[in-house]
Parts: sequence; structure tokens; C-alpha cells
Amino acid sequence: MLFFATILFSQLLMVFGRSIDRSKSSVTTRRSLPDGFTLRRSTAANLHPAGIFRFGFNVDSQNQTALHASLVATSDPLSSEYGQHLSKSQVGQWDFGSWVAQLSAPAPESVKTVLGWLQDHGLTPDAVSPSGNMLTVRMSLEKANSVLNANYSAYVHAATNTTIWRTLSYSVPAHVDEHLSFIYPTTQFIPPPVSAAVTTHVTDQATGNVGQIAACAEAITPQCLQKPYNIPSTPATTPGNGIVVGGSAAQVTDLNDLKTFLAQERPDIASAPFTMQLVNGTTVQGTGTSSATTAVGVQYTAGLATNVSTAVIYPGQEDDADGVQGLLDITNSLLAQDTPPLVFLTSVQYEEAAFHTAPEVAQSLCNAFAQLGARGTSVIVTSGGSGDTSRAMFPATCPYVTSVGSTQGTNPERAADFSAGGFSNVFPRPAYQLDAVDGYLRQLGNSSASSTNTTGRGYPDVSAQGAQFVVEVGGQVQSVNSTSASSATFAAVVALLNDRLLNAGKPPLGFLNPLLYSKGLPGLNDIISGSSSGPNGFTATTGWDRLV
Ligand SMILES: *[C@@H]1O[C@H](CO)[C@@H](O)[C@H](O)[C@H]1NC(C)=O
Ligand SMILES: *[C@@H]1O[C@H](CO)[C@@H](O)[C@H](O)[C@H]1NC(C)=O
Ligand SMILES: *[C@@H]1O[C@H](CO)[C@@H](O)[C@H](O)[C@H]1NC(C)=O
Ligand SMILES: *[C@@H]1O[C@H](CO)[C@@H](O)[C@H](O)[C@H]1NC(C)=O
Ligand SMILES: *[C@@H]1O[C@H](CO)[C@@H](O)[C@H](O)[C@H]1NC(C)=O
Ligand SMILES: *[C@@H]1O[C@H](CO)[C@@H](O)[C@H](O)[C@H]1NC(C)=O
Ligand SMILES: *[C@@H]1O[C@H](CO)[C@@H](O)[C@H](O)[C@H]1NC(C)=O
Ligand SMILES: *[C@@H]1O[C@H](CO)[C@@H](O)[C@H](O)[C@H]1NC(C)=O
Repeated sequence: MLFFATILFSQLLMVFGRSIDRSKSSVTTRRSLPDGFTLRRSTAANLHPAGIFRFGFNVDSQNQTALHASLVATSDPLSSEYGQHLSKSQVGQWDFGSWVAQLSAPAPESVKTVLGWLQDHGLTPDAVSPSGNMLTVRMSLEKANSVLNANYSAYVHAATNTTIWRTLSYSVPAHVDEHLSFIYPTTQFIPPPVSAAVTTHVTDQATGNVGQIAACAEAITPQCLQKPYNIPSTPATTPGNGIVVGGSAAQVTDLNDLKTFLAQERPDIASAPFTMQLVNGTTVQGTGTSSATTAVGVQYTAGLATNVSTAVIYPGQEDDADGVQGLLDITNSLLAQDTPPLVFLTSVQYEEAAFHTAPEVAQSLCNAFAQLGARGTSVIVTSGGSGDTSRAMFPATCPYVTSVGSTQGTNPERAADFSAGGFSNVFPRPAYQLDAVDGYLRQLGNSSASSTNTTGRGYPDVSAQGAQFVVEVGGQVQSVNSTSASSATFAAVVALLNDRLLNAGKPPLGFLNPLLYSKGLPGLNDIISGSSSGPNGFTATTGWDRLV
């Protein structure tokens, strides 16, 4: 019997790996408040009046290497796996209790450990992200103070006068912490996203001649882009080819603006297939006044991608102004779909340095974009820019998105002064752009690059017109200079290319960069020429391979 007992014990050891010491805690402390934030002094109890907050418990994914390798193989036009986008269950599908072999999921044991610990505190996640790596829990800050041994207080980001609720310290039992990548929000102090749009109000007179080529030098309309970029105005015909534009709670979309815009600029498509949704699938109606950034994104996708279904997706409850929760919500809701949209466009942009207190959050978002790419979604973001255009911008610096900068003018079409470009200080240079960036740096010589860290991921990947776009905002015609204008234009072109590919029985483009840096846009023409002909073909545009 003794022998038997010994065997059992050793088997148990094999199952559990090692004994768990539940008395140890792992403490995370921020020694000082990050620059730009101050404690909000308050005489009343320093707790949020609205009460319930959402907390994301992010569980370590086992190993992203396989996902990234698969993404590279399916997006490299020279690979035999090109275009073989992965299904939801291949990328990661968490189903309470059952596991499917997958590339991007955490170890079942990790999720179970975190779930068990939450349940010990009477907490049940009300949402689990598709790959199981994010457990969302609702609780009051008081409860969070007790569960996390924290001290949540209100902090003001001075430059934007926005308030966030954070703690300078928290602790989690060590046997749980080893499975957690991060808990959000805790000690992350991320300044709000920066605005991409520069606008000026223009008189109706200035746009009175819309659509006439003579006016394109002063005011860009969809028709001004269709001509030089040879974007067809004929309707796309394949179902299931959609563009989703990421919205934020703070940026509503005014449907009347889109209507007016289309009536004036695309009278041939007065009723574009356009919807607004919440992350949970509910359709909503727009109220309030759009921002120029949202308006340009909506109007130039719906206005150029003729008959491609376009939707704006809004996050759920956002507790504070940093927008991170919203972006996580949106990417997770897209990943949860069996057939995610073929194009995802977001103009949310942060200074990459804004994540210095939370590099793991930027990494997690970038991994979510990689998962979308692996599923066949082209993730398109702006290169950013406003103020100092030399600061690295996220998510443009994520290697798994296509980042779009702005050009202006014709003859020559040149980089726009408001458009950012540069190198990541976080993400290393991906293989697909090694040659292009090396070539660029050699051309630049040693002097210009001397003060910049040029070892990381370079961006933007492509550029398109972005200045003086005619946009309808709150019933007024405005002129917008913005990289959002460029990314919307590019997103529309990608959606129309997908329509050609789908009609030819080919897979959609998915993650674009390995293609853009090898066969490039002329290569796209090659891919398409076998399937379509006629007067509306695409031609290579100038500047799209430019690394500004
Ligand atoms: C991650 O996965 C790759 C491919 O599946 C494997 O080669 C590598 O050893 C793994 N790395 C770790 C740290 O487990
Ligand atoms: C919590 O933080 C606030 C603000 O820094 C401080 O005034 C208070 O004393 C702290 N409470 C505890 C219990 O540490
Ligand atoms: C900052 O915002 C608060 C409300 O959140 C307001 O009471 C205060 O006046 C604002 N301060 C400045 C300088 O705008
Ligand atoms: C628009 O696209 C749908 C598929 O989404 C297609 O059924 C319809 O025929 C298209 N409309 C036109 C005018 O081609
Ligand atoms: C989606 O969320 C909204 C707002 O929180 C809520 O009103 C609606 O009932 C939800 N819909 C579904 C289908 O869960
Ligand atoms: C740049 O500097 C490296 C070493 O510092 C040198 O070998 C190279 O020749 C320089 N290139 C140019 C274009 O000046
Ligand atoms: C330079 O960028 C790389 C990313 O490629 C990063 O690992 C490194 O820490 C950066 N160096 C500095 C000094 O920021
Ligand atoms: C927008 O860009 C155009 C072309 O570069 C420029 O003339 C105009 O002044 C810019 N508008 C703003 C508000 O910066």
C-alpha cells in the first residue's frame, strides 16, 4: 500500500507540476505618478459616483510565435499558403470547458486558475474574449480595492483635463499572477488618443463646383480621387465584403451628414449600405454631432467603396477617456465573429510613448490585430500626425497593421506636412520591410537619421491623398487635412480589390504588408488582371510604396 500511495502522489505531482504556495503575493507598485497626471483632490469619498467599473484580466497567451509564423505564411505572396486565411477555431476559440487546438489561446490551466481565484472572490466574468485571453469582470472600485489590495483614486491628465481611476499599487496571489499578463485598469496611465484631424470651415461657394476637376486643386471630393487613382464607380457585387470603421463612445456619427454628403458628391449612390452597431451586435441610430475624424472615415469609405457594406462599430461602456477598453472591445468583438469584416479601419491613434506605463497593453492590442490579419482582415490605421510628426504613433507602429500616411498635391504628389512617419521604439523591424527600410536608410545617409532610433518597425507603409477633403460635419461643409482621409481612401480601395478577387473565386487580401513590400500594388494588378478587364481597372498609384 505504501508503494501504491507513493505512485499516486508522484502522479499528482505530475498533474499539478508542483505544489502551490497560496500565501505568497505578487505586488505591483508604481513608485511615482507618471508625468502629466495629478491626483484629483476631493473632500468627498474619493470613489467614482457611477460605481461599477469593468476590469479586464488578461491571461498570458502560451506562445504567439506560431500565430505570427502562420500570419506571415498566409500573407506572403511567395508562400504556398498565401491567402489560406485561418478560421476562428484555428486562431483561438475559448468555450467554457472545452478547448480546440489553436494558435493564440492561453493554456487552459491559466484560465482555470484565474477563473477559480475570481470565483473565490464571488466574481464571475461576464465576457471572455474569443481566444480566452481576456476575462471581463464588473465590480465597484471598493470591491476592487479589496480583491486587489489596491487604492483606486481619481487622477487628472492635465493636458486634456480628463479623469481616470487608477491605483499606484495592487497585489495578486503569486500563483495567479504568474498566469496574468495584465489587469486593466490598474497602474496603467495612458493619456487619451490624439486627434488626427485638422479642419477649416469652407464656404459653400468653395465647394459649389464639386465634382468638377478644376476644383480638385482646392477641394478633394470622391470624384477627385476616382480619376487619378482609377477607382471604379461601378458597384461592388459580392456579399460578405464589408468595411468596419472603429468608433468611440465620444465620436458619434451623424447619419444626416452621410446622406447630405452622398447626395452632393455621389448622387448615383444616395443609399449606400451603411449601419451603426454596438460591439454586442445591436444596431443603433446616430445622434449628436460627428467629429471631423469620424465623418471623414465614414464618408470616404461609403463614398468610394461603392455598394460595399460599411459599418461603424461602437464599444460598450467605457469607464475613462483613454479609449483602450473600447479598442480592446472592438477587436475582441470582431474576432468573435465567424466571418469578420474583410477590412477594419481605425483612426484612433496614440503616441507610442503613451504606453510607457503599459507596454503589455500595446502588445496585446497588436496581437489582436495579428489575429485579425490571420483571419483574413486587412487592418488599416492612420500613420498619425498632429503637432510633432516625428513622435512614433501607435497602432501605426504595430507590425501587423497597414499604416497609411498622407500626400498632398499633384505633379508632384508629395508627403503632407501633417503626416507622421518614423520608427517604433518598441516593435522590432518585421522581415517584410527589411530591404525597403535598409534601402531608405542608405539613401538618407548617416546625418539625418543620427538622432533617431531607426532599428524598429518603420511606418507608414503606404500613402494617399489626405489634404483638403470635403467633409460634411454637423450640417456644414468642412475642409479636412487628415491622415484619416488617406486611410479611409485606402480602405475603400482595398475593399474594391477584395470584390474583384472574390468575384474571381480568389481569397481576400487579408494582412497586406508582405504583399505591399514585395509584389506591391502593381502586383495587385497582376493578380486581378486575369479576372477582370474593361475600363475600370486599377492602376498603380504614385507614392503608395513611399516610406515617408
Ligand atoms: C513557440 O512556438 C514555436 C512554434 O510552434 C516553437 O518553435 C517555439 O519553441 C515556442 N517557443 C516557446 C518559448 O515555447
Ligand atoms: C489612497 O490614496 C490616496 C491618494 O493618494 C491617499 O490620500 C490615501 O491615504 C490612500 N489610502 C490608503 C489606505 O493608502
Ligand atoms: C476640467 O473638467 C472639470 C469637469 O470634469 C471642470 O469642472 C473643470 O472646470 C475643468 N478644468 C479646466 C481647466 O477646464
Ligand atoms: C450590391 O451588393 C449586393 C451584395 O452585397 C448585390 O447583391 C447587389 O446586386 C449589388 N448591387 C448592385 C447595384 O450591383
Ligand atoms: C447591447 O448593449 C446595449 C447597450 O449597453 C443594450 O442596450 C442592448 O440591450 C445590448 N443588446 C444585446 C443584444 O445584448
Ligand atoms: C554611415 O556610418 C557607418 C559607420 O558609422 C559607415 O560605415 C558608413 O559608410 C556611413 N554611411 C554613409 C552613407 O555615410
Ligand atoms: C530602439 O527601438 C528598438 C525597437 O526596435 C527597441 O528595442 C529599443 O529599446 C529602442 N531603443 C531606445 C533607446 O529607445
Ligand atoms: C491643409 O493642407 C493644405 C495643403 O497643404 C494647406 O494649404 C492648408 O492650409 C491646410 N489647412 C490647414 C487647416 O492646415
